[in-house]
Amino acid sequence: MKKITIAIDGFSSTGKSTVAKQLAKHLGYVYVDTGAMYRAVAYYAMQKGLINERDFKVEELISQLSNIDIAFKFNEALGFAEVYLNGVNIEKEIRTLEVSNFVSTVASVSQVRKKLVEQQQKLGENKGVVMDGRDIGTVVFPNAELKLFMTASAEKRAQRRYDELVEKGDAVDYEAVLKNVQDRDHLDTTRDDSPLVMADDAIEFDNSDLSREEQFEKILGLVGDKL
Ligand code: DC
Repeated sequence: MKKITIAIDGFSSTGKSTVAKQLAKHLGYVYVDTGAMYRAVAYYAMQKGLINERDFKVEELISQLSNIDIAFKFNEALGFAEVYLNGVNIEKEIRTLEVSNFVSTVASVSQVRKKLVEQQQKLGENKGVVMDGRDIGTVVFPNAELKLFMTASAEKRAQRRYDELVEKGDAVDYEAVLKNVQDRDHLDTTRDDSPLVMADDAIEFDNSDLSREEQFEKILGLVGDKL
């Protein structure tokens, strides 16, 4: 069967990665979580003391970009690829609220985007890929055969994120999670380089009132149309 490229963009915590993983598994495609790549760079910057609440040493981060190696390794038990920074598995470390609070700032740096977009285009050059992010259908793969743009209300998204963090044992406050979601929406849609916008040929998908199963069934139908 012919292989296609599936680009899934949208706001944070709209369930992009859940559906992307389901699709990749079902189709036997490679799944690439591009948000994890930006999170890895943010985590690197935090580790090296290049970013905190008061200060962002952007030039130093840019000069160190060649030292940052990001890779994905498939984890059989989990059924998806985990992200590695310079050989170390950082899948857990990048999902904290602290990393979420810095990642949009790091992702607004053009040199960071250029490096990661090049790597993403390589990862998807043979098609048969499901990639989720903010600029996949607009910048990374403007010719993707299927482009989805996921939306849901900020409150719904914050509740989902809050539930996930609590389940992992993180002591977080719902209002702080909602504020993070709203701040990231603002930063991601207003940055100069590759802001989050829906591609003209993307299909908008509001999943505020859909269960995971309903969402997956509907999206599978869209994939079927393209194949
Ligand atoms: O999908 P996520 O929440 O893990 O993404 C983390 C941040 O990375 C998000 O706030 C914006 C940024 N990002 C981006 O700018 N471009 C992408 N393709 C993916 C993520």
